[in-house]
Amino acid sequence: MTLPIDDAGLLATLDDLDPAQLGGLGDMSPGQFRAAAHATVDVLADYLEHVEDFAILPPIEPGTLRDQLPSEPPDGPEPIGAILGDVARLVEPNATHWQHPGFLAYFATTASGPGILGEFVTAVLGQNPMLWRTSPVGTELEEVVVGWLRRALGLPDVFDGLLTDTASTSSLIAIAAAREAAGLDAAALGLAGRPEIGAPVVYASEEAHSSIEKACMTLGLGRSACRRIPTDDVYAMRTDALEAALAADRAAGRLPIAVVATIGTTSSTAVDPVPAIADVAEREGLWLHVDAAYGGAAALLPARRALFVSWERADSIVVNPHKWFFTPLDASLLLSRRMPSLRAAFSLVPEYLRTLDREQPVHDFNEYQPQLGRRMRALKLWFLVRYFGLEGLRRRIDAHCRMAADLAAQVDADPDFERLAPVPFSTVCLRWRPAELVGREDDPEVRARLDAANERLMAAVNASGEIFLSHTRLQDRFAIRVAIGNLRTEPRHVAHAWALLRSEAARLTR
Ligand SMILES: Cc1ncc(COP(=O)(O)O)c(C=O)c1O
Repeated sequence: MTLPIDDAGLLATLDDLDPAQLGGLGDMSPGQFRAAAHATVDVLADYLEHVEDFAILPPIEPGTLRDQLPSEPPDGPEPIGAILGDVARLVEPNATHWQHPGFLAYFATTASGPGILGEFVTAVLGQNPMLWRTSPVGTELEEVVVGWLRRALGLPDVFDGLLTDTASTSSLIAIAAAREAAGLDAAALGLAGRPEIGAPVVYASEEAHSSIEKACMTLGLGRSACRRIPTDDVYAMRTDALEAALAADRAAGRLPIAVVATIGTTSSTAVDPVPAIADVAEREGLWLHVDAAYGGAAALLPARRALFVSWERADSIVVNPHKWFFTPLDASLLLSRRMPSLRAAFSLVPEYLRTLDREQPVHDFNEYQPQLGRRMRALKLWFLVRYFGLEGLRRRIDAHCRMAADLAAQVDADPDFERLAPVPFSTVCLRWRPAELVGREDDPEVRARLDAANERLMAAVNASGEIFLSHTRLQDRFAIRVAIGNLRTEPRHVAHAWALLRSEAARLTR
């Protein structure tokens, strides 16, 4: 790669070393930064322009990339042109292409253009909004963006919040806050050697995300403290089973502290009955945490608000902008009406973090989370909300929901395929199940054959390189998930996924 440098004249090309690299001290010179940044943007714009030319899953075997890289780091400096050349030669071809419009696996996400630019500016400013003092702009922009998102999601102003890295962290913070709200004073005393308080229990459906169980592991409650509540035939929590579990735990001397309701579960995007769960939580004095990490983005659409009835009764809510809100990883929005409980769980201010030169109270966000240092995540959200506008975001999310509804209708119309769950958002769970096998699934052999055939079917579609699907198990059946949520996905990509599923299924039966 050879690019002329325009302004400072420090370098003739990016293939040369910056004089500052040779025996100098300090950072890359501003002149080289300017030229290298322009060149980097060119490489990246080319990538985004041609991302559809890549196979979504890179055709490599484990270890083969490692073998192409030097095992020792370079002792001397290398020109930036060589590093950028390797981005195109080694990095891009060996990435799994989440930015590809055929990426329909897990929950498809997008690092949108404005979000990427926000990340770039964030990195250049090098902010750390752990205290207001260490980043007034990071802190106050976060306050403003949290307020923007809260209002856009239709939530009342009793909610305040912060941006964390992931929903896993957001839910961990919520459960730690629930523990404080229950009066355990675990932040000060811990839980060990305190049999008098009874074992704390957190309730979540058997379809809730593993991050809830992990939060219990991490907070010292143990996995066994996460009581998995059975679900109904559409994978939503059964409130009668929740009430029975609560009664059994209380009778056994345990201490229920929180219940997690999910709006948009990971496997099938099911919606738990939040109004009934909120009634139980209120009656039992439990902290109600709503996990809308994926589904929450749909609350932007007034027409879809019925899915979110009563979520404003929650004590805390998580929605992930890095899922269906087109924000580059990482960004998770944690909202709570009980911020003092979050602070009780995590505030610890040693002398060296006290700000001495201000009178009025400010948000020092580190007091609401386990980490001290934190990224300025608000800027990329500020970029993308301004760039698309709420109206533009709504239009895109609505288009994804409509693509999913169209696919669901086609699956329903095909006698050899079966849809395995309702489609409240933009994800369709389906499987191939030839018409002649309907009603024969009591036979374990038939079930096993169907599971194996669907696994092969998904592998065949993924081998195309043009579409990437992932799977789950629903009612102990292998389910293929088609998750629409990438900004670049158009109806033609979903149509292609469906055509591949049908043609590969036909091939499997030949
Ligand atoms: C419902 C739900 N909650 C939580 C998570 C965890 O998200 P994160 O990767 O941000 O921790 C996921 C991930 O897919 C999810 O689907």
